[in-house]
Amino acid sequence: MRTQVGIVGAGPAGLLLSHLLHLAGIESVVLEARDRAYVEGRIRAGVLEQGTVDVLNDTGLGERMNKEGLLHHGTTLRFRGRNHHIDFVDLTGKAVTVYGQHEVVKDVIAQRLKDGGRIEFEASDVAVHDFESDKPYVTWRDKAGKDQRLDCDFIAGCDGFHGICRPAIPASIQQVYERVYPFGWLGILAKSKPVQEELIYNNHARGFALFSMRSPEITRLYLQCDPDEDIANWPDDRIWEELHMRLAGEDNLRLPEGPIFQKGVTPMRSFVAGPMRHGRLFLAGDAAHIVPPTGAKGMNLAVADVRYLSRALESFYGKNNSDRLAGYSDICMRRVWKAQRFSWWMTSLLHKFDERSSFENEVQLAELDYVVSSRAAMTSLAENYVGLPFEEQK
Ligand code: FAD
Ligand code: PHB
Repeated sequence: MRTQVGIVGAGPAGLLLSHLLHLAGIESVVLEARDRAYVEGRIRAGVLEQGTVDVLNDTGLGERMNKEGLLHHGTTLRFRGRNHHIDFVDLTGKAVTVYGQHEVVKDVIAQRLKDGGRIEFEASDVAVHDFESDKPYVTWRDKAGKDQRLDCDFIAGCDGFHGICRPAIPASIQQVYERVYPFGWLGILAKSKPVQEELIYNNHARGFALFSMRSPEITRLYLQCDPDEDIANWPDDRIWEELHMRLAGEDNLRLPEGPIFQKGVTPMRSFVAGPMRHGRLFLAGDAAHIVPPTGAKGMNLAVADVRYLSRALESFYGKNNSDRLAGYSDICMRRVWKAQRFSWWMTSLLHKFDERSSFENEVQLAELDYVVSSRAAMTSLAENYVGLPFEEQK
């Protein structure tokens, strides 16, 4: 089997890359370890930056997002039991859209299949070969148990943090930067009407809590917890009790309770591996970098990477020009590090750190106070949250 770009992973990065390449007249095949139902049901991120929304709209993927997505003009920071509104549109002229990552994944898969795209689900033992030469290839075992080989010009490693592409790059070539946080998030989906229209990022002495949503009937909630928390220790009653305690305050904010139909724990880390290219293997999305979810940047970064990669491949095939491919890692990294900085800052501003002294806890509250009382500080938060502009590739 032969194609131009072999893509490993059918998450947002791999799927969108294959769609963008198709629009540019470039062929690809996507190899995915899981089955379609699993990939379409995997509950993760929910906030789309304006730039991500633009990419989806500009490439014909926006129809359902525009109908079902929720446009948010701002967000709320809550501390000492009081809400403080940050108005993104007033501060930056931009907004964000709440639309689940798995909905984006469903939309791209449907479009790829409609356009005759090839996605090989349930591909096991995927391995990437000879990407230091100009004849790379990918091997795997298909769902019928048959060994397969795909020859290609380039390989895109879009296989997430636990994938095989990043480890295939020699360690001597890659620099890794990492910070593991001493906490995780326990996330739930509940059939309960959102208590307000926008998200609430809540700082509390018992730990961080986030109020988010997926639709006018579905609430998405997160609680800071131990990174290795056993979900079995969290029956529904305990989750609601803890949420009520963390969101209590003089305004009597109280979440309406409802049946919880999804629960999970996500440990938190900041991670960058660079460069994002070695020979003809290019990494994109979580395969190269992870952010703690407090800044809502993970999926948005994956989209930015493949937007750059598709344009670089377009100029290679269309103009026989490799400059953009050569600059791919640098242009992505500049955006990645700004998103890392923002995600780290939001995380340290809002979470409870056991190792912090009472002095440092007061400084955290003073910083929150400062952020919500200074237009300059609010603007800085807002412009990062709605997404920094894309840098144009030379
Ligand atoms: P992924 O979505 O991880 O996709 C990678 C794909 O590659 C997967 O489909 C995987 O099955 C496949 N794959 C892996 N290994 C192989 C292999 N060997 N062969 C073939 N295929 C393979 N971000 C937020 O902003 N908010 C959140 O609330 C949030 N929650 C998250 C919860 C979890 C548990 C995780 C892991 C991430 C979360 N994120 C969140 C981050 C966000 O979801 C990711 O940044 C986003 O999914 C990145 O997309 P991706 O396509 O790069 O990687
Ligand atoms: C979500 O709705 O899942 C969500 C929203 C904001 C975040 C992280 C996750 O910062």
